[in-house]
Amino acid sequence: MRVIAIDGPAGSGKTSVAQELAARLGLECLDTGAMYRAVTFAVLRAGGDPADSGFTAAVARTIDVRIDDERVLVDGVDATVEIRSLTVDRAVSAVAANAEVRAELVARQREWANRRDGGVVEGRDIGTVVFPQADLKIYLNADSSVRARRRARQSGALGHTADAGGVESVAADLTRRDTIDSTRSTGPLSVASDAVVIDTTDKTFDETIEQIMGLM
Ligand code: DC
Repeated sequence: MRVIAIDGPAGSGKTSVAQELAARLGLECLDTGAMYRAVTFAVLRAGGDPADSGFTAAVARTIDVRIDDERVLVDGVDATVEIRSLTVDRAVSAVAANAEVRAELVARQREWANRRDGGVVEGRDIGTVVFPQADLKIYLNADSSVRARRRARQSGALGHTADAGGVESVAADLTRRDTIDSTRSTGPLSVASDAVVIDTTDKTFDETIEQIMGLM
């Protein structure tokens, strides 16, 4: 099994880098953040409170999530755009801090890779928890202002109404989410000791891809 783990904070460029690498290497790609977002979407849709750990864990265990390159289906409902809404953005860290939710989603991520004999998997704990034996671990990072600008552009492209506070508000949200993601007790965002750290602040997309292809 050949696994390439890509971790890093929001807006570091993980998703586009993972997709391009997968295409070049002829592998499939899994966006694990979309899985945590899908659970959050399903909890909110059911009128639940993401802070209710029992309810949220039950949703995670029973939810049907299908993710391909274009769409995310949650229990048969197309949630591609909704899972990236501000509402989900604000609630997802509480869901991702739930140990039972993580246990369920980590098991599904391992099963996904086993069925395909590997793939490019991106998230926060891929190199540290999900696939500690990954063949290559990349930790992508970038200055928080650059990450906030990228995220604001992505939200606009998906048709979400701009956050009333503009890029500053997106930046504050990202910082809050990074803090929760890095300090939770289960599977926190951290750099695996054997990961290659790439700062994409001053790099073009192509430079980042070439560097990783060189490491491969
Ligand atoms: O990468 P993203 O912004 O779509 O991730 C959404 C949230 O899910 C983010 O707050 C961190 C969390 N997440 C996680 O805890 N573990 C992962 N492997 C992937 C994402």
